[in-house]
Amino acid sequence: MDDQYSLRFRGPHLLGIEGLAPYEIQDLLDRADACVDVNRGLADRRDRLAGRTLLNLFFENSTRTRTSFELAGKRLGADVVNMEVATSSVKKGETLIDTAMTLNAMHPDVLVVRHGESGAVALLARHVRCSVVNAGDGLHEHPTQALLDALTIRRRKGRIEGLTVAICGDVLHSRVARSNMLLLLAMGARVRLVAPPTLLPGGIEAYGAEVTTDMMRGLEGADIVMMLRLQLERMQSAHLPSIREYFRLYGLTRDKLANAAPDALVLHPGPMNRGVEIDGVVADDIDRSAILDQVEMGVAVRMAVLEALAGPEAKR
Ligand code: CP
Repeated sequence: MDDQYSLRFRGPHLLGIEGLAPYEIQDLLDRADACVDVNRGLADRRDRLAGRTLLNLFFENSTRTRTSFELAGKRLGADVVNMEVATSSVKKGETLIDTAMTLNAMHPDVLVVRHGESGAVALLARHVRCSVVNAGDGLHEHPTQALLDALTIRRRKGRIEGLTVAICGDVLHSRVARSNMLLLLAMGARVRLVAPPTLLPGGIEAYGAEVTTDMMRGLEGADIVMMLRLQLERMQSAHLPSIREYFRLYGLTRDKLANAAPDALVLHPGPMNRGVEIDGVVADDIDRSAILDQVEMGVAVRMAVLEALAGPEAKR
């Protein structure tokens, strides 16, 4: 594979980080880097998706992902439709597959789907002719989140390879943790998963990440500290003695952050629970926190993904 053109992400879907080759991740990050200025209004690429249609189909709530896909599509000149699941025929009992086939009959070019069940987006992709992007499925994957986190890291640190990244908190319920772990390991970073024993998935070490239940050990010398939201809505039983105890042991405070590298960068995918997994003082520290950079990079990454899947060079 020595031809420059073939070393690109070619789709036809983006369902997860798993299965992507490092060169495909690299290509998406390079494309996204070039989209940052477009999102800032410094360049115009509205011709790239002119005449293409993007359909957002979110069965779970979202602020960042849905809005940034909409903006990304519009910045590239696509027609963007946000289907309101709450007022759709899904509420009358229409199945996921029937919904997908119905939308497919309207000839979208890209369907962006978030769903509460792991695997639902891949299932849907088998029933449509257009490209499908996984915007988060259950506990499984959230690939564009991992890509935007990687872009944030690469722009702030100049590289990913060789960095130590501590992913801390509710790893068990986090598709963000899983996608990030897969991407960062593929790109040569050292990944530490840090969580209470009840919030660690069994056998996760097999992927090549280090695992610890000791927050101070997990943070030691880390270049990147990625905090995860405590996903109380996905917990069927009590995983924690109390929120107060969780914050004391695992909440990121200035004191705990002092154990990381002196120039460690703090990330959080949002939405944040201040005073639960992260102290507001750390989240708002402009010297250490890259949380709003992540939001900005989200638009650039989603532009890159849409252009790769539906732009002039995309396979059809
Ligand atoms: N990080 C993330 O997926 O945020 P939203 O749920 O707001 O899309």
